[in-house]
Amino acid sequence: MTAPTHRTLEGGGFPVRRPAAMGSLMSPFLLLDEMGPVEWGPREAIGAPDHPHRGFETVTYLLEGAMQHADSAGNRGDLNPGDVQWMTAGRGVIHSELPQADFFETGGLTHGFQIWVNLPSEHKMMQPRYQDIPANEIPKAVSDDGLVNAVVIAGEALGVSAVIDTVIPIQLIHVKMQPNSSFSHSIQSDLNVMAYVFGGALSIEGKTVEDGQLGLLTQGDKIDFTTSEKGAEFLLMGGPELNEPIARYGPFVMNTREEIHQAVLDYQNGTLA
Ligand code: CO
Repeated sequence: MTAPTHRTLEGGGFPVRRPAAMGSLMSPFLLLDEMGPVEWGPREAIGAPDHPHRGFETVTYLLEGAMQHADSAGNRGDLNPGDVQWMTAGRGVIHSELPQADFFETGGLTHGFQIWVNLPSEHKMMQPRYQDIPANEIPKAVSDDGLVNAVVIAGEALGVSAVIDTVIPIQLIHVKMQPNSSFSHSIQSDLNVMAYVFGGALSIEGKTVEDGQLGLLTQGDKIDFTTSEKGAEFLLMGGPELNEPIARYGPFVMNTREEIHQAVLDYQNGTLA
């Protein structure tokens, strides 16, 4: 099946595309935002100033633009095109995600993704962890015929393994397929899999997923993707069904209302992070 996409404004007015089916259907992913693409004028670019998270991971993958991260654990990092930041909030992090100062002055194109990956209950209160991987350290793969390129952010594709360590088995692969190409992807059969198309059109086992749509795939251990004359660019995502209750309030994602209440109290008391 495919899900339509909402255009919405996130945070202080950041335009995003957000597939509607996220959260309810695609454990362990809670959210997928395509940020932009948006062309900012001088001093227009916005981001998210200090805010908390608990109980899950935020993954930022920037295609265009220049962002800057700082958090309560003392981590600081610049995000430039192709860079990935994988932040495991665990028991609590307060962070800011802002445009870099010189980018803010000049403006420019911003395009990227933010994905929220849920943590199973046994890991929700783990120590925060921060993996900041520059573009040149993210493994790339290419098919034998040269028509399919993959950026292997998490998991494995075309025989190439990622360098990012994930708490639970996660696949996150940026795939670019040339027109009239095919790509056969092997994946653990017990993972939920989906493909978010953000360019061209993709055919998955004979069903077409258009630009801006999320294709939800039944579980299986081999998936065949093909393109027609348009080619396709998409994020391939996979992960286990957590089968746990989700209690969610803003930036906190726990299992029970009591745990959410505790997170709010901890944040108010200054003990969250
Ligand atoms: Co955040």
